Amino acid sequence: MKIRKSFLIVITGGLVIFIGLQFIRPEITHPPVTGDLQAPPDVKAIFERACYDCHSNETNLRWYDRVAPICWRVAAHVNSGRAGLNFSEWNKLAPADQEGKLWESVNQAIAKAMPLKDYEMLHTEAKLSATDVAILKRYLLSMVHDRPADTAKLNAASKQYNYWKKSNVALQLLPKAANGITYIPDYKNWQAISTTERLDNGTMRVIFGNDIAVRAAHSGRVNPWPNGTTFAKVAWDQLADKEGNVTTGAFKQIEYMIKDDRKYAATHGWGFARFKTLKMVPYGKTAMFATECINCHQPVANRDFVFTSPLKN
Ligand code: HEC
Ligand code: HEC
Repeated sequence: MKIRKSFLIVITGGLVIFIGLQFIRPEITHPPVTGDLQAPPDVKAIFERACYDCHSNETNLRWYDRVAPICWRVAAHVNSGRAGLNFSEWNKLAPADQEGKLWESVNQAIAKAMPLKDYEMLHTEAKLSATDVAILKRYLLSMVHDRPADTAKLNAASKQYNYWKKSNVALQLLPKAANGITYIPDYKNWQAISTTERLDNGTMRVIFGNDIAVRAAHSGRVNPWPNGTTFAKVAWDQLADKEGNVTTGAFKQIEYMIKDDRKYAATHGWGFARFKTLKMVPYGKTAMFATECINCHQPVANRDFVFTSPLKN
């Protein structure tokens, strides 16, 4: 008898709290759609199904999304999701930024970083299939096919290549980013662990890892990556000839990520730096530029903020 009574009290107490919670609900707004993403119907349908709940003004709330405490998490996702990428206000972005966001979106989908995992659990229809990802990739590819390399670009490429080969000598004084990280020429001796093509704006990237990174990858100690791990991501123009063969063109930029969980605690243990053009012009006026880097790497927070998964062997 006694047990049943206390059980009842617990249940009733729980219910009262649960009902009480329903009165503290964050508001999820539905601002007007001012300029929706324009894309072929199959592509658009995928984004609508899997991304629009958090990345548009057309958030479709299911009944369980409205129940506290779930609705708090939903509101947080919708607000920060819209802030980074909003398909409903697509025409506010310059064409280059639209391409950039699209490329980034497809990469997040390939990396399985988006849609968010806890969202997928409740909204299973949002899961992306291999076919969905292939459709998105093909769409990006179609955007570059009508952009063969011009002669000016080809000339710039060979001139820059020769310069690049000598650049160890040319860069005696190492350029330094606003947060104190200098250009590290040694990456040319590191192991290339992955290549990616950013098809939409025609760049090709190679990601190099230093010895610590490579050893960690081989032994599977990658979450978190050990201190001292350093990645370099180098981007070149990608030149396509009329037959569609692709080669690397002019050097565009190099980016670094250096792991030191104490020194770079403010950015989740990673120090960031980017140097642009062969003159290695440091990116960012103040050390705050790193916030932009870590924010975009946020979707892979569960992989220690690293997109690339090096192949184990
Ligand atoms: C449940 C909500 C949710 C869904 C669904 C979702 N995202 Fe996100 N997305 C977020 C949040 C929240 C962020 C902000 C970064 C973070 O905290 O992970 C984000 C960030 C991003 C970013 C980085 C934006 C930037 O530049 O700051 C991209 C790109 C992105 N998502 C693409 C997608 C794509 C593509 C889909 C669909 C395949 C998708 N997302 C589905 C919530 C979502
Ligand atoms: C628009 C989103 C975005 C921003 C902003 C961004 N990154 Fe990345 N970064 C990526 C993606 C996506 C990858 C995965 C490789 C690829 O597809 O190019 C990546 C990969 C990297 C890598 C290779 C290691 C890895 O995570 O795979 C380095 C190094 C890197 N970024 C450095 C930087 C630095 C430095 C900055 C800021 C100056 C920066 N990134 C800003 C999206 C971003």
